[in-house]
Amino acid sequence: MYNISVIGTGYVGLVTGACLADFGHKVICMDSNSQKIKELKDGNIPIYEPGLFEVVERNVLYQRLSFTDDISYAVKNSDVIFIAVGTPQGDDDRADMSQYICCINDIANNLDGSKIVVNKSTVPVGTGRKAQDFFDEKANGDESKKVRVVSNPEFLREGSAVYDFTHQDRVVLGGDSHEAIGVLKEIYRVLYLNETPFITTNFETAELIKYSTNSFLAMKISFINEIANLCDKVGANVQVVAKALGQDGRISPKFLHAGAGYGGSCFPKDTRALVAIGEDYNSSLNIIKTVIYTNERQKALMAEKILHEYEDIKDKKICILGLTFKPNTDDIRESPSITIIKRLIDEGAKISATDPEGIENFKSFFKGTNYENDIEFFKDEYEAIDGSYGIVIATQWNQYRMLDFNRISKVVNRKILFDLRNIYRRDDIENQGYEYIGVGQ
Ligand code: NAD
Ligand code: UGA
Repeated sequence: MYNISVIGTGYVGLVTGACLADFGHKVICMDSNSQKIKELKDGNIPIYEPGLFEVVERNVLYQRLSFTDDISYAVKNSDVIFIAVGTPQGDDDRADMSQYICCINDIANNLDGSKIVVNKSTVPVGTGRKAQDFFDEKANGDESKKVRVVSNPEFLREGSAVYDFTHQDRVVLGGDSHEAIGVLKEIYRVLYLNETPFITTNFETAELIKYSTNSFLAMKISFINEIANLCDKVGANVQVVAKALGQDGRISPKFLHAGAGYGGSCFPKDTRALVAIGEDYNSSLNIIKTVIYTNERQKALMAEKILHEYEDIKDKKICILGLTFKPNTDDIRESPSITIIKRLIDEGAKISATDPEGIENFKSFFKGTNYENDIEFFKDEYEAIDGSYGIVIATQWNQYRMLDFNRISKVVNRKILFDLRNIYRRDDIENQGYEYIGVGQ
């Protein structure tokens, strides 16, 4: 059992803290946002992440998991400190490191003994080594203040974060200290049961593995989206193309679902950050630049696909099903729905929108903008659909897979379905008397 603290209790920090507590460690989750910590202490989970509540609840009950907004308390009561603060996109596309820098200063100023600091946040190549130098300088040869840094990038996905953390494809550990890496292996010992491979390497390689993984996955999505757009033109079916591609063991079927473009807090920012890292080292990443361009274009093309079907969309109500960037999350960051809704409103449409978890975040995003008054939100999808001139499936939440078209037919002004996630079969929808617009079908 190790005494661990996790600094930054967001999507990654809370999942990491709760799951490490579930592995049997004693974990303190710290966040500078006192409101968030208060909510957690009150037994509420500030984000929507399936399965997380149960893990948090049982580990709080067994006193393996606690919460604080006091960095000094967190540092002093742990031997291993995971950093999971945000590294959002900065103005110049590079990762904004202000939260991270604040965090390592806070740790340095509160050291009461030798510690291991683990970079779980996604950080630019070179960060681990710089952090090690920073702590070495602070310690100034004093072994009792020695900090050993380990890079341990995270690969979990929102919506399946607890499963992903406990069923990792691999654990990447980068750094100079074999001893510290050994401690991390012990911390993750439970994963040996699943025969999880451990990759131990230097800081730079570990950091680049994270950016390369996200960029490669983003590349697969942009690739299949371009093929889908070609399918639309030539009368081919992208789902069959993707299936055949995926059956080639060298390609793998995953991340080949054509759709409205990737969103979220990671692919968009990490692809841009990787390009910026390449620029810093005069090593151009042309493929990734094109992936970014293709994805922005894909989101815009979805709006054009819709507009193309209306002679005049002014004052027509268009219903958007799904606001989050993917199902099973409340996260709306860089969601294709944002691009689509803005463009439709710019052309004069009125929007009725619904989402099982994303409405509050979406409302805050548009608060105070010119778009705010043209979007009406509904908790129930059938209420949102009522009176609409078109239904757009923007996020593939399960409840949109089984829509009752008999019921819908009685309340819509036009029977047209834009299935931007390809969750229905064209024939099935057309047989119900609807026009069907998919992506590459
Ligand atoms: P998040 O914004 O949800 O959470 C970050 C938390 O850090 C916030 O609660 C914030 O209040 C807190 N914080 C900021 N500065 C702090 C400080 N100085 N001290 C204490 N707390 C502080 O971010 P996230 O989505 O959890 O991402 C965290 C990191 O993990 C990022 O680098 C991200 O790229 C990476 N990552 C995210 C995911 C994901 O699915 N969200 C997956 C893998 C990796
Ligand atoms: C992604 C990675 O999958 C994680 O491994 C990584 O840890 C994380 O980023 C991160 O670094 O933060 P996440 O953004 O939560 O996870 O979600 P994904 O399931 O990867 O989906 C990202 C976007 O790609 C979504 O908008 C999704 O709709 C889209 N997507 C995904 C497709 O359009 N097609 C696909 O085949 C797969």
